[in-house]
Amino acid sequence: MKILFIGDVFGSPGRDMVQEYLPKLKEKYKPNAVIINGENAASGKGITEKIYKQFMGLGAQVITMGNHTWDKKDIFEFIDDAKNLIRPANFPEGTPGKGLTFINLNGAELAVINLQGRTFLPAIDDPFKKVDELIAQAKKRTDLLFLDFHAEATSEKQAMGWYVDGRVSAVVGTHTHTQTADNRILPNGTAYITDVGMTGPYDGILGVERDAVIKKFLTSLPVRFEPDKVGRTQLNGVVITIDESNGKATSIERIMINEDHPFFG
Ligand SMILES: [Fe+2]
Ligand SMILES: [Fe+2]
Repeated sequence: MKILFIGDVFGSPGRDMVQEYLPKLKEKYKPNAVIINGENAASGKGITEKIYKQFMGLGAQVITMGNHTWDKKDIFEFIDDAKNLIRPANFPEGTPGKGLTFINLNGAELAVINLQGRTFLPAIDDPFKKVDELIAQAKKRTDLLFLDFHAEATSEKQAMGWYVDGRVSAVVGTHTHTQTADNRILPNGTAYITDVGMTGPYDGILGVERDAVIKKFLTSLPVRFEPDKVGRTQLNGVVITIDESNGKATSIERIMINEDHPFFG
């Protein structure tokens, strides 16, 4: 089974890249499932129902989120009906939405989990304790488990990868918006990457219009962060292959599309 995962889609530049390249990536890799992190899809902050439906219409099966989940108030209107939109499972109990979903792929079932780290991010429930619970829950139905671990600290993400090695088919890190080159299969069969990267502006700073970010560093004054709309764009993702017979990953390949790394179909 092949899974195509697209890293944090940032604003309209990111959505345009998904619209342009997702069909081409599907043609090239022929994934059984497409998962997109959509936490920044609406102007860099959150997601709307319209964008969720656009991604599903383009062929995504699951949308994962992160610390920006609640930024667009629209989310509260549709999250409970959006079957395949998941937010970090370790948000406090009683929070709308869910952090685990199952999708059916020609008879095989894939469990998709979203969790958020706690280092340099708001204090939420323990993602390590939560992942144990979710693995136990998911394993009752399938051995094919995918985790989007949305976290800031490389160490926390690596710790999660090693903690679930052999129990989860793939752990992909998101949130830092910069792709890391440490994609590998851990010894017990878990595909791992610290960060998939971001899909959106290529010439901004983490997606944000760069003059505003530089001004913030120079002056410490409050500035308004908007997605960069004038520079070039990029798409970051990974393609993971999993052996359906045992849930072990066999490969994880990075995808980086930008002017310096053009797409070859
Ligand atoms: Fe993000
Ligand atoms: Fe984030």
